[in-house]
Amino acid sequence: MPFSRVLVTGGCGFIGAGFIRMLLRERPDTSVINLDKLTYAGNPANLADLDAASAARHTFVRGDIADARQVRELLREFPCDAVLNFAAESHVDRSIVDAAPFVQTNVLGVQVLLDAARQSGVRRYVQISTDEVYGALGVEGRFTEQTPLAPNSPYSASKASADMLVRAAHMTFDFDTIITRCSNNYGPHQFPEKLIPFMIRRALADETLPVYGDGLQIRDWIHVEDHCRGILLALEQGRPGGVYNFGGDAEMTNIALVRLLLERLDKPESLIRHVQDRPGHDRRYAMDYSLAAGELGYVPQKSFAEGLAATISWYLEHQAWVDDVVSGEYRRFTQKWYAGRE
Ligand code: NAD
Ligand code: TYD
Repeated sequence: MPFSRVLVTGGCGFIGAGFIRMLLRERPDTSVINLDKLTYAGNPANLADLDAASAARHTFVRGDIADARQVRELLREFPCDAVLNFAAESHVDRSIVDAAPFVQTNVLGVQVLLDAARQSGVRRYVQISTDEVYGALGVEGRFTEQTPLAPNSPYSASKASADMLVRAAHMTFDFDTIITRCSNNYGPHQFPEKLIPFMIRRALADETLPVYGDGLQIRDWIHVEDHCRGILLALEQGRPGGVYNFGGDAEMTNIALVRLLLERLDKPESLIRHVQDRPGHDRRYAMDYSLAAGELGYVPQKSFAEGLAATISWYLEHQAWVDDVVSGEYRRFTQKWYAGRE
């Protein structure tokens, strides 16, 4: 079922911008309304490379998904057939320092969007969620869609709350909703507070690399384009009420990843510092995406080795982009968070 106009929220962030780029390129009859608050993590420059044909079908609106009046009026002015919600406060460490914006955007904002979308006749709502809602794994096993939700951080708790609100909208109102849950993304345009771009930036500046605890925590890395492909498949082919896991088949410990980055950047391992662990730190994530593979034909395409090499090259070539996004607000948070940890 083709969609002629979709509302994408958080489209100036890392994954939302990647999705908008893919959608406009591959679906020439679809136009996009991009609602983004432009928090410290939102950056219109993430979409500066849209070609003319894509740019003509992209409308940016600055605004807040938790502002019910604005969202209602937006959907009245631009009726849409689908809503994809990428907008979120997305960094675990920040949620430990102050959970309030996480509850405001990730929980309240989702209910506002669900209500406005349903009441304005939107056909399908897609919630971009995360593997972190499942909590932590031990050394074996993978998360499936049947794994109970057991979030451990204020961030993941806010995302799990949103998933429950989305489920409730489907069960109560028969609203056509989809939830996608994905593992750790990496790729170009990722805000340099997340592990890979954070460590690249610090290593290039010959600054110490703070690895939390023993560094043996495991993440399942997926290239942002594979994630966006999965979301597009779910939008177009997902089952109403469906929940789909996406993973990258690329489990790695943090310390091995940091060492690999140093090797690729030709920087010494002596930059590594094991610092105080993140409270409530999830030990391991790994995704079983066989449901998405079977129902949607989802398969991650990019190997971690290939994707990481390209990502490192992108950051080396876009140091001006990095310098631009590390605003005063970001610097204040980083100083506060890392100061007490070494
Ligand atoms: P990001 O932090 O890079 O971008 C978030 C975007 O949302 C920014 O552009 C920001 O300005 C916008 N935003 C924040 N609050 C808003 C509000 N109230 N109203 C409108 N816009 C608002 O995040 P990301 O890494 O691109 O993540 C996108 C989504 O994917 C999030 O929902 C996140 O939970 C989910 N996710 C991320 C990962 C990952 O590894 N990054 C993995 C799985 C799921
Ligand atoms: P992050 O990119 O914040 O993603 P998430 O917490 O959502 O998985 O962190 C990835 C892993 O890297 C996580 O186990 C925490 C760890 N980490 C560090 O060891 N040091 C750091 O400075 C950061 C930002 C993360």
